[in-house]
Amino acid sequence: MEKIIDENTQGNTLTLEARDGNSRKLYIESYGCAMNFSDSEIVASILADQGYNTTNLLEEADLVLVNTCSIRDKAEQTVRKRLEKYNAVKRNANPKMKVGVLGCMAERLKEKFLEEEKIVDLVVGPDAYKDIPNLLKEVEEGRDAVNVILSKEETYGDISPVRLGGNGITAFVSITRGCDNMCTFCVVPFTRGRERSRDPQSILREVDDLAENGYKEITLLGQNVDSYLWYGGGLKKDFKNASEMQQATATDFAQLLDLVATAHPKMRIRFSTSNPQDMHEEVLHVVAKHENICNHIHLPVQSGSTRILKAMNRQHTREEYMKLIDKTREIIPGCAISQDMIVGFPTETEEDHKETLSLMEYVKYDFGYMYKYSERPGTMAARKLKDDVPEATKSRRLTEIVELQQKHSAIRTAEFLGKTVTVLIEKESKKNKDEWSGRTEHNNVAVFPKSTYKPGDFVKVKVTDCTTATLIGEAVGLAP
Ligand code: SAH
Ligand code: F3S
Repeated sequence: MEKIIDENTQGNTLTLEARDGNSRKLYIESYGCAMNFSDSEIVASILADQGYNTTNLLEEADLVLVNTCSIRDKAEQTVRKRLEKYNAVKRNANPKMKVGVLGCMAERLKEKFLEEEKIVDLVVGPDAYKDIPNLLKEVEEGRDAVNVILSKEETYGDISPVRLGGNGITAFVSITRGCDNMCTFCVVPFTRGRERSRDPQSILREVDDLAENGYKEITLLGQNVDSYLWYGGGLKKDFKNASEMQQATATDFAQLLDLVATAHPKMRIRFSTSNPQDMHEEVLHVVAKHENICNHIHLPVQSGSTRILKAMNRQHTREEYMKLIDKTREIIPGCAISQDMIVGFPTETEEDHKETLSLMEYVKYDFGYMYKYSERPGTMAARKLKDDVPEATKSRRLTEIVELQQKHSAIRTAEFLGKTVTVLIEKESKKNKDEWSGRTEHNNVAVFPKSTYKPGDFVKVKVTDCTTATLIGEAVGLAP
């Protein structure tokens, strides 16, 4: 299954139910990772209190916000193209509209955005969304406004996000912000700042709220969920010594997962992303213990070569990663495992690349997201290492790993043939309006005839056929 995700190049326009009395119109579009989609919901919630309802028509928007991604150069180019589009609409159809840039590109480019893109009135970094009402006042008075201050505390734990454009069945719940890992290729620590964990009580309240509103599945979200640690807020380093830290009643990720799964035994739970270096055995035991936590772990490795892993500042070797895979399969039999992989990191040789291929053979991932290395300004890799793998070599290596992944995905998917799986119905199948589409706990998409079932039902489905990516089957009854 081709899972080379190009950072949502279509973007996603999000709308929500109109709030009575709100007269202004917000068009909000998100690119990049799930965290951005989740953040856009926070922003829409803040703006609903300012009199804005969402629209999916650029032509009628008073305010256009684009939540941006910097992870690869291509992601940034996509946003630049969208700005051109906004420009055309503003010129031809909607001269009153104001344009704001949110997210990682806002943080990376700061005031430079205003110079480079004349259409932009407002630049807001990921930790400054609560300041948007003030910034909008500036904009209304005809001044450009910028706030890109990163915070050591902000988790937006006190804001209940409005659920935008969702299916009313699955939702993201963010549990950490930022990242302290400093992988040398990655721009995230620069654009999203230091790692902070959110108060478990506010997480539980959000999940309660979702459950009450009929949601059936949540994904606990963070750049690095396994390093979640709550002991009252702020940065981990704020503790003067280890004993001071232990004295605080801390909650780690395994405990948080256990708390949420216990409080909501009927809610299906996923989490993403796990960095292998922070993933502890305890988490695996919690996954194994709870029926409602999906047996799927997204465990990005980036490369199969220990030398490259070291250059990437990933804190584990190839062998340690393989041990973690073995442990995962031992503790959670049949657990689906997926990867992120980067080809063409500086100095990557053919030998290193073969190690990536052989690691993939070892794990036989269920699916994966694969990318060519893209140099990001300001990162350690950009400062210290020459982007020296030729483009053609990167392309060829990417094709090789994608083809291998497709082979493995096909093998993994076929393992479900003849079996009965539990599917949470999310929506109508795109290809056939007489069929439902949903996902299994292993994160396989499954389609089957609608019969009398409805979205939000957990249905037992007997798998009769499959493609590399999708299970095809027949419903045999509601899951207990
Ligand atoms: N927090 C996650 C990853 C966040 S970014 C983790 O622990 O790995 C999502 C993916 O984008 C990464 O896993 C990596 O595969 C890819 N990526 C990040 N920076 C990149 C770059 N400069 N070039 C190419 N791919 C990159
Ligand atoms: Fe990036 Fe590594 Fe953090 S990939 S988001 S620095 S774990």
